[in-house]
Amino acid sequence: MQGLRPQLLEGIPENVYDKIRQLEDSFVIGTPGLKKVTNHIVEELKKGLGVDGGDIPMNVTWVMGYPTGEERGQYLTLDMGGTYLRVCDVVLAGRNESVQLDQSKYKIPENLQNAQADELWDYVAECLRLFLLDRHPSEEEPIKMPLAFTFSYPVTQNSIRDGILQQWTKSLNVPEVVGKDVVTQLQAALDRKKVQADIVALVNDTTGTLIASAYHDPEIKIGSIISTGCNAAYMEEYGAIEKIEECSLPNDALIAINTEYGAFDNKRHVLPRTTYDENLDKLSPHPGCQIYEKMVAGLYLGELLRLIFLELHFQGALFADQDISILKQPNVIDTSFLTIAEADVSESLRELRQLCLEKLALEPHPCDLKVCRYLVELIGTRAARLYACGIAAICKKRGFERCHVGVDGAVFNHYPAFGKRASQALREVLDWPSGSEDLVTFHEAEDGSGIGAALIAALAVKRGGCGRLKPRAQKSN
Ligand code: GLC
Repeated sequence: MQGLRPQLLEGIPENVYDKIRQLEDSFVIGTPGLKKVTNHIVEELKKGLGVDGGDIPMNVTWVMGYPTGEERGQYLTLDMGGTYLRVCDVVLAGRNESVQLDQSKYKIPENLQNAQADELWDYVAECLRLFLLDRHPSEEEPIKMPLAFTFSYPVTQNSIRDGILQQWTKSLNVPEVVGKDVVTQLQAALDRKKVQADIVALVNDTTGTLIASAYHDPEIKIGSIISTGCNAAYMEEYGAIEKIEECSLPNDALIAINTEYGAFDNKRHVLPRTTYDENLDKLSPHPGCQIYEKMVAGLYLGELLRLIFLELHFQGALFADQDISILKQPNVIDTSFLTIAEADVSESLRELRQLCLEKLALEPHPCDLKVCRYLVELIGTRAARLYACGIAAICKKRGFERCHVGVDGAVFNHYPAFGKRASQALREVLDWPSGSEDLVTFHEAEDGSGIGAALIAALAVKRGGCGRLKPRAQKSN
């Protein structure tokens, strides 16, 4: 068994034990399973670079190469990718000087998650207006500031200054924006509100992470986010990106690819999904999409746990005689439940008991607590091991035998053992000799949507535009 500790289940009744063993059979993924998933991801990464594409979008970002360390200037950055908007004023003064960064965060109201496009963009523009008003209250005619917009959703880009939304992922769902250029829409809202900002670059959070992390560490070859969503970016050679129209670049020129591999296996052929994964998908804001992401990312792990809890309860194996009305509410368990539960190593599982009481109004029996704790570990371990497959696939695709991976996001930063479990899975998938050092290592990323986005803005301003994508072939079916 991979990374699980059967001793956690000592003393639980036999019928419950049997049910947990059945769950294990579907949740534990051994080395051959991981290798199979990784090899399929490699194939899809390759397909995604072609004109016809595949499951994984492999979005060309037009971020050309790594920063030189000479990037300078003052940039505004705006990060939109989860529950908060983050606005920063970043001053770059070259690699040897420290970066100055001043920031504010604004919560995105829940009612905007399904709003009209104008309502969404007006809110975003208003946050930026308030930020600038607060920082520069006296300037009558302030100069327009260059703005890097980190928009962490899949977009098709024909330049670094545009991006057509392919589809919403995670919780946002504003249909009017799909198929439209998000830069045009946000810039129009900024202009309506007379916000003195000019969007010079559209950035994905993974690309920002890659660039920010590589700025100080030349060994960084992959930037990854494992938070609400899961994704990674890396530098690909121009010659391998078949879907870019001929442009005058050497074949080995590097262009950052935002893989969007959260969409891996949307055709549902490869991943070892359980009935809980299927139900979770059906109940999610975007059914049928982001199938891989739904098995690994923070937005979904709590919900997966809730669905298992409910089923075990109805089978009489968990929370018997308890009022489960709160547990019946979708999304009532978030990832923090899992992180706190896994961090509880006390014999009586004190923290976990408290958590069940506070969040779910449940008073679990000691055996229930053991089962909960075990299930959390089962879900967390599967997530970390599958997460590693994406990273391993990029390494295999690019022939990176040794590299650093810059990782950001709450799951990586706060989930105990996530990094350790992912490293163990890399070792298995990439066949490192036993006892040898780790060749591909995870590193806490530098600030991608602040510093990374500002660096990308600086690179964009310096280089100007380049290239186009070939039109995608019509599918015959
Ligand atoms: C989702 C988004 C992707 C983003 C990731 C992490 O997968 O589609 O663009 O990078 O979440 O935020």
